[in-house]
Amino acid sequence: MHNKNGKVALWGNQYIFNMAHTLNDYLREVETLFKEERFIFDPKELYEPIDYTLRLGGKRIRPTLLLAANALFGGREEEVRGAALGIETFHNFTLLHDDLMDRSPLRRGQPTVYTKWGDNTAVLSGDTMFALAWRYFLRQPTPRLREILNCFNETAIEVCEGQQKDMNFEKRAIGDVSLEEYMDMIRQKTAVLLAGALKIGALYAGAPDGEIEKLYAFGLHLGLAFQLQDDLLDGYGDTAVFGKKTGQDIRDLKKNYLVLRALQLSSRQQADELTRLFGDAALDEDERVVRVMALYDAIGLKPSVEEAIGEEFRAAGECLGRIDADETLKAPLRELTATLVGRKK
Ligand code: IPE
Ligand code: IPE
Ligand code: MG
Ligand code: MG
Ligand code: MG
Repeated sequence: MHNKNGKVALWGNQYIFNMAHTLNDYLREVETLFKEERFIFDPKELYEPIDYTLRLGGKRIRPTLLLAANALFGGREEEVRGAALGIETFHNFTLLHDDLMDRSPLRRGQPTVYTKWGDNTAVLSGDTMFALAWRYFLRQPTPRLREILNCFNETAIEVCEGQQKDMNFEKRAIGDVSLEEYMDMIRQKTAVLLAGALKIGALYAGAPDGEIEKLYAFGLHLGLAFQLQDDLLDGYGDTAVFGKKTGQDIRDLKKNYLVLRALQLSSRQQADELTRLFGDAALDEDERVVRVMALYDAIGLKPSVEEAIGEEFRAAGECLGRIDADETLKAPLRELTATLVGRKK
């Protein structure tokens, strides 16, 4: 049973002195999990790209959320290691396919899998990672496994729906995609995975449904803030720090938050220019990036995007505040939220 102060738990007949973890403890735990796991098997052409991707690291946000959510409700870390590996492997699978779909050359400062090994490898190694994620989840049985796998699977389906909408928007004019549609698209492609990771961690701990709902809402707001920040960094980030080539959304004609918000803030003349820049198929890609960014600056776009991001972070913090759990155990989730505010990579 979980003691409310989070420091002492009764397990069987034994008292376990369960020191509250910091964010760094969870990040280290996730790194150790990946370091100790073997990813290369036969045929190596299939597994090398998987090993390459999973060892390149990244921020490891999703498994960290899962571990912290589990601890929040008195769960035991050794029971969720498989799920932590599973959720991060799934996330990395989406990146292999996403980079192929978006034709993105760089990730985490390194060449993307499809540029290094070809499109077919990105597809097949990616598919394998999705299946590996299931294997990791099945490693550790738990009374709520069916519910957990259902959450994982429904999350995966929503991510795909979001990804399809993101591609559909590429073909539509900027004035035709509303901010509401955009927010719903990013809820699916990005936010549900952060929310799902939290929910899965809490399910392992046997958390009550009402608390899981609040935790899920926290994850959705955090995920929305996270994707808005990603859009901002696509325009204003530094490739050397961000690890991804900037301006890729403009090259891909993505209807991301920057362009949709810019259109709202534009004068009639600026709106016409923006629509022309996103509608002129013959325009050189790099020239499109330079012109669009110049227009964003003229419009004074950046502060209003930062404001929207701040609003989602604030809403996330509020949701976290409503959860009935020990504040010392919430601290790592607050800390993680704080590190994502104004992130540069
Ligand atoms: C990238 O996710 C995909 C988005 C949802 C924007 P992350 O920014 O979490 O990627 P890594 O794992 O840290 O590289
Ligand atoms: C991320 O969207 C969504 C998924 C990977 C499912 P992006 O396409 O914006 O992510 P990055 O910028 O390539 O990481
Ligand atoms: Mg992408
Ligand atoms: Mg994409
Ligand atoms: Mg992006």
